[in-house]
Amino acid sequence: MERFVRGIPKAELHLHIEGSLEPAMVFALAAKNAVRLAYPSIEALREAYRFENLQSFLDIYYAGADVLRTEDDFYLMTLAYLERAQHDGVVHVEIFFDPQTHTLRGISYAAVVQGISRALSQGQQRLGISYRLIPCFLRHLSAEDAMRTFEQALPLRKLIHGFGLDSSESGNPPAKFAEVFARARAAGFPVVAHAGEEGPPEYIQQALDILQVARIDHGVRCEADPALVERLARTQVPLTVCPLSNIKLKVFDRLEDHNLKRLLDRGLCVTVNSDDPAYFGGYIADNLLAVQQALHLSHADIAQLAANSIRASFLDQSEQAPLLARIDVYASAH
Ligand code: ADE
Ligand code: ZN
Repeated sequence: MERFVRGIPKAELHLHIEGSLEPAMVFALAAKNAVRLAYPSIEALREAYRFENLQSFLDIYYAGADVLRTEDDFYLMTLAYLERAQHDGVVHVEIFFDPQTHTLRGISYAAVVQGISRALSQGQQRLGISYRLIPCFLRHLSAEDAMRTFEQALPLRKLIHGFGLDSSESGNPPAKFAEVFARARAAGFPVVAHAGEEGPPEYIQQALDILQVARIDHGVRCEADPALVERLARTQVPLTVCPLSNIKLKVFDRLEDHNLKRLLDRGLCVTVNSDDPAYFGGYIADNLLAVQQALHLSHADIAQLAANSIRASFLDQSEQAPLLARIDVYASAH
């Protein structure tokens, strides 16, 4: 099963590139950029990765991102992620980043985008991994700040393929960002939003109705509203689920309690992703293997999750078709 899971072609659609910054790289970049860290060693930093909820994670995650200072730092971080992803059978990635985390520290939007894009473009050429790049608005900041950040993205629009919404969910409903999402859609960008990670089903509904998202990031709390589950099954709006993240942030107590298999069996377009792999204890194949074991997923379930990840991506039909065919060939040969 482990070889099957790792080898099956798949897309990763919910990955915050700043969340791929491994403790060793935090220390290496801190030394290079003369940044003082609050932890004395790599081990001490890793020890601090015990979270009570989303906010307790975000506090450490934003502090970790402070070591990223130059275009080259973003390039190296992204390249390291792509090499890991290739090892896990990833053939397509849609990567999130948080521009405001960096522009608020005086780093230019262009340096961030150009560093990440340079690695993505090399990843496509050398590793055969296609990509999309999706900046997210930080929902704990104001709608006005999001609008200014959207405007900073426009000169770089050739390197950007959509917009997302992340950070502290509770108390920051999708409706707060109606205007900037309307502008992003009017400019031709597909949009996504984190909703129903810690927040209520109502936030998922707002993301669908007001932000008009193409996918819901997380969405696992939809189950509290049966009509919403029915709607997600009927419309096939994908959920980008992140099982190990959900355990680390105490959305579910144990992986055995996770609702991924129920949602899959109910016919929702569920995908498996790693969210912030350096913080949550695993990359995409680790996430798939962990849920496979905890929820007794079959080979057919894994193939379904892989096919869902391609269908849920922003690749067009002509790009999806050969990848779906590869999954079929792979699954029937195993
Ligand atoms: N930013 C990085 N990871 C996140 C998550 N799981 N939820 C919200 N914002 C995030
Ligand atoms: Zn996320």
